Amino acid sequence: MDHLYRATEHKPSGALKAGSKSLVLEAVSKRFGNARALDTVTLHVEPGELVSLLGPSGCGKTTTLRLIAGFDFPDTGTVHIGGTDVSALPPNKRGLGMVFQNYSLFPHMTVGENIGFGLRMAGAKKADIAAATKRMLDLIRLPEYGERRIAQLSGGQQQRVALARAIINDPSVLLLDEPLGALDKNLREGMQFEIRRLQQNLGITSVMVTHDQEEAMTMSDRVVVMNHGRVVQVGAPRDVYDRPRNRFVAEFLGAANIFACRVNARSAQAITVTTQPAGGEPGVELTLPLPQSLQHDLPNIIEAAVRPEKIALNAPKPGHRQFPGRIVQHVFRGSQHSYELDVPGLGSGVLAYQQAFSTDHVGHARGEAVTLSFAPHDMIALEPDEVPLSAKGGHTTFAGHASPLASEGAR
Ligand SMILES: Nc1ncnc2c1ncn2[C@@H]1O[C@H](COP(=O)(O)OP(=O)(O)OP(=O)(O)O)[C@@H](O)[C@H]1O
Ligand SMILES: [Mg+2]
Repeated sequence: MDHLYRATEHKPSGALKAGSKSLVLEAVSKRFGNARALDTVTLHVEPGELVSLLGPSGCGKTTTLRLIAGFDFPDTGTVHIGGTDVSALPPNKRGLGMVFQNYSLFPHMTVGENIGFGLRMAGAKKADIAAATKRMLDLIRLPEYGERRIAQLSGGQQQRVALARAIINDPSVLLLDEPLGALDKNLREGMQFEIRRLQQNLGITSVMVTHDQEEAMTMSDRVVVMNHGRVVQVGAPRDVYDRPRNRFVAEFLGAANIFACRVNARSAQAITVTTQPAGGEPGVELTLPLPQSLQHDLPNIIEAAVRPEKIALNAPKPGHRQFPGRIVQHVFRGSQHSYELDVPGLGSGVLAYQQAFSTDHVGHARGEAVTLSFAPHDMIALEPDEVPLSAKGGHTTFAGHASPLASEGAR
């Protein structure tokens, strides 16, 4: 499992400035009373990289940021910044910049005073503060706003000021906790590009927390999917989306058709399985790639995922698997048609998404018979989900959440 966490070949896409620093969490655990908030979290962030923490409410994202920042201290494990162990240092000695969801700007100060605050605290000269503040105002594209009051800014502008205030001290690591959570959808998308542009231009090593899967995938070099205080999968957004490790990741990042399968045979690279549709109807035999993670420990029964947008309707390609099916439900979503199908051998409720404006697609009516197809490599064999801590005995609880077994168990 360890190989998942190592940033071996990884190169951040942003500029690598000389001062960019790495951030390393090594086997960090944290309890609050009886509840285990973080369980042996290991994470290597490369200099200049932006990594997003993603996962359901209560999975430990904010706790991770707080441990990096020094607002809390790990029970066990270490935090290193630029190769230095900072585990025991207070927040103001760690050289961090922080941006929170609610901006937390000082309302009684002007925009310029807010931005220059960190340098003023550090005792910088007036002329230097003025010059740096002007540079920041240009950087966040609000050059004329230095004298304004905070209350005279829009939400998006306030968030840019919060960002400028966080980076004026040239932090070695920038922490962003739901930085866009308070903004409406349109503004959010604009700000995603804005933050990413600044982060890349300045080469600041950054860790961002977000609830929003799309946001994490558009902005990040890598995403870290967490659940129950553990890191479940780390990788480039595309890799994690296309190769989810287990059902939890597959369903957390977008929609997935999940098929129960019995394994019949295996080779070094592939497995042959028979699907097991609900209700005991006969399955079909399929061959799919065998992921490395399953090579040493392949169960007899596995689950396999196919993303709905990987399923073509009436457009079979050579080498692709084909199935006759029937449209049960059709929803038009503007940019795509979303279909629910009955497919003998796969089951009912199979989802297929089709781009709405491609010339070869005219939409299908309810009841229509169609041919589904997908490439063998678009069916992903999944590892069994980790047994939740609560099911292993011990005292861990997941207050406020439905039983993980109920939400992730057989459906
Ligand atoms: N100070 C604290 N005292 C007790 N329990 C805490 C404390 N801080 C966090 N926890 C618990 O630790 C777990 C992780 O919390 P955390 O705030 O890191 O979650 P999160 O992933 O940021 O969730 P959200 O998406 O809702 O912000 C939760 O079960 C939470 O209740
Ligand atoms: Mg949180």
